[in-house]
Amino acid sequence: EVVLPFGLQSEVDAHLHAFLDQKKMMIPEMPRPNSSESLATDYGNYEKPETVMQNSLARERVLRPRSLQLRSKQQQWVDSPEGQKMVEFRKTLPAYKEKDALLKAISENQVIVVSGETGCGKTTQLPQYILESEIEAARGATCSIICTQPRRISAISVSERVAAERGEQIGESVGYKVRLEGMRGRDTRLLFCTTGVLLRRLLVDRSLKGVTHVVVDEIHERGMNEDFLLIVLKELLPRRPDLKLILMSATLNAELFSSYFGGAPAMHIPGFTYPVRAHFLEDLLETTGYRLTAYNQIDDYGEEKTWKMQKQAQFKKRKSQISSAVEDALEAADFKGYNFRTRDSMSCWSPDSIGFNLIENVLCHIVKGERPGAVLVFMTGWDDINSLKNQLEAHPLLGDLNKVLLLACHGSMASSEQRLIFDRPPEGVRKIVLATNMAETSITINDVVFVVDCGKAKETSYDALNNTPCLLPSWISKAAARQRRGRAGRVMPGECYHLYPRCVYDAFADYQQPELLRTPLQSLCLQIKSLRLGSISEFLSRALQPPEALSVQNAVEYLKIIGALDDNENLTALGKNLSMLPVEPKLGKMLILGAIFNCLDPVMTVVAGLSVRDPFLMPFDKKDLAESAKSKFSGRDCSDHLTLIRAYNGWKEAERTQSGYEYCWKNFLSAQTLKAMDSMRKQFFFLLKEASLIDNIEGCSKLSYDDHLIRAIICAGLFPGICSVVNKEKSITLKTMEDGQVLLYSSSVNGNVPRIPFPWLVFNEKIKVNSVFLRDSTAVSDSVLLLFGDKVSSGGFDGHLKMLGGYLEFFMKPTIAYTYLSLKRELDELIQNK
Ligand code: CDP
Ligand code: MG
Repeated sequence: EVVLPFGLQSEVDAHLHAFLDQKKMMIPEMPRPNSSESLATDYGNYEKPETVMQNSLARERVLRPRSLQLRSKQQQWVDSPEGQKMVEFRKTLPAYKEKDALLKAISENQVIVVSGETGCGKTTQLPQYILESEIEAARGATCSIICTQPRRISAISVSERVAAERGEQIGESVGYKVRLEGMRGRDTRLLFCTTGVLLRRLLVDRSLKGVTHVVVDEIHERGMNEDFLLIVLKELLPRRPDLKLILMSATLNAELFSSYFGGAPAMHIPGFTYPVRAHFLEDLLETTGYRLTAYNQIDDYGEEKTWKMQKQAQFKKRKSQISSAVEDALEAADFKGYNFRTRDSMSCWSPDSIGFNLIENVLCHIVKGERPGAVLVFMTGWDDINSLKNQLEAHPLLGDLNKVLLLACHGSMASSEQRLIFDRPPEGVRKIVLATNMAETSITINDVVFVVDCGKAKETSYDALNNTPCLLPSWISKAAARQRRGRAGRVMPGECYHLYPRCVYDAFADYQQPELLRTPLQSLCLQIKSLRLGSISEFLSRALQPPEALSVQNAVEYLKIIGALDDNENLTALGKNLSMLPVEPKLGKMLILGAIFNCLDPVMTVVAGLSVRDPFLMPFDKKDLAESAKSKFSGRDCSDHLTLIRAYNGWKEAERTQSGYEYCWKNFLSAQTLKAMDSMRKQFFFLLKEASLIDNIEGCSKLSYDDHLIRAIICAGLFPGICSVVNKEKSITLKTMEDGQVLLYSSSVNGNVPRIPFPWLVFNEKIKVNSVFLRDSTAVSDSVLLLFGDKVSSGGFDGHLKMLGGYLEFFMKPTIAYTYLSLKRELDELIQNK
């Protein structure tokens, strides 16, 4: 049995933030004179690390340039006791047995594909093996290995782990570079970076001069950036015959990648997992008498809490729901009846849906059982996890803190919480972790013996025909289900409860759809243009699995409408600026306008909120209270975005007097989300500065602003996301051009008002479920639409909008196509003369 030192991981996590902050202070990224030059300098420096050193005293202090004596330094470390321990640990990883075979394959082929179970040592070991063998072959001074990661956090933590394994400081032979942050020195030969960073380097250095190895990690995720990078690299390889490409994947679908690269050899690292017994829904019923427990438990639960009559009646109803749902599930052909049915918020299970009770029952079964071991529950998303956690905390057994340690695990949790997930709980306490599919491959909890798999994951999809993105929990793939199951067999034989019948599993797709096929392509198309990769549609047709022509056409059309591309598909000045900002083009446009109109502070709040997530919490049992708390911020604005700004500013104010948490509690706000927004705002600020769109903090930090102007900027960004408002006697009818009548989420402040005193709503997102629903919206007037909505796409809306469209062209088209500066002047004048 191999016990892996997970303490190390959590220690790294614990210090990560403090460490990063410290580094940021010590190593400012170079000041940039202007945007186009900045990229060149950045990556130019990469080629000549010495210049970096000369230019930056601060950097020198931290990184202490040394001559290239990697080999002797390494020997000293290996001879020390800690070094010995590390060497021994590294030998226990499954990748170690394949080391020679892997290196041989790399030396004999230009491209190889490596697959292996999560945790077998692909990311931390393979790039290191390459580095070591290069040093061995006296090429240490000239090699340059780049390993890409899909996420910032993994690029940073992996590079730190590898540096620690080599007994070095980060920035010696191993470094990292993510957007806005980096640690590398003149000796850095192995660089972990995000996929985006490598793509941006290609912007100024098409042939990756000086790079000897590119390792693309986590390709099984089929992220959009990775698929994109593969197209570029495929084209580059013939021009750079000496460049080695290594693709790494956690699952066994190597053939696809191997044939994309003309039959590149695929290697597999055999893992060491224990067998995991799979239980499907029908097994649960047959072998554990689940059905009986399901009934009894609900009654027990009801009595124990001495619920009121009304509640009891509710439980009775739920009980019959369960029985019919399970029945349905067994009939199985139509699996909709057993459902993770959605109530008003489309994207999550309804909190009192049977899915939750099923999970509750399975967890009781495990906790009452004899076998020790932690439980990992795969849920669809953050909101589900929270609702389920609330439900379980109220349960007599599962909520008992002496018996159960209940933890949540999702992308944006605090690092202190993160540590608990990896720690072993006290004797006699069962650890239950509720996680998103992030726990499938990105993180590993070693003591997991039981896995509960709801079979779904929240996934974006894209309906090209209606040009509508959808975000729905959808069935996972067979590969993902296998991966989830495998998580139970790290330390001993495990059990996996799949909460769906086997025949549903059989109907799963083999692999998840690649992101390129299920997301709107606007940002990607912008990037293709800024990388000067030629015709967008021609370029994308060379992808591993090319997207639909219609999706591409929609994206190009959209970019033309917002003025990022001209009629000939060339990048405009606005387009260039937008491609510098790591947010969707529409949000980038808001930031640019915010900078121009000197009201960046509130605009950054809106953009941060839209790119992180809604900080307003809507707990199902306190929905009314939460809604009324929210409406306190909204006043009569009819704008979710202005509401968000007020809530955020209030929190900032409360933070100043140390009462941030109290404020959040009182107002049903997520402190965590607000903090994430805060750090995102800081990033925006630096980026805009980097792109020379602002020169100092003045005008950005002031809290007073004009609501009408913000409304206008929101309109400019969200256009053509617009619907018309008709106030009727008892209701409000909303219509968009493409969908006809649409509805609002009840969480929107506009969902609960008797009338909306403006003729238009601009919205950020529409999502198709049964009907089309609009998320956050802001009401705008004719004149705002006239001035700030861009030209209306051909085809027209209705007569009114067509007329507006005519005006819009008249006012806006030449300026937008040209540059935003003249727009500022023109609009400034208009506003001044109002
Ligand atoms: O990439 P892959 O999933 O194959 O594995 P890896 O990330 O290279 O990790 C290999 C092993 O190193 C893991 O099983 C962990 O035990 C250990 N590790 C660690 O202790 N701390 C880290 N920050 C990363 C990995
Ligand atoms: Mg990995």
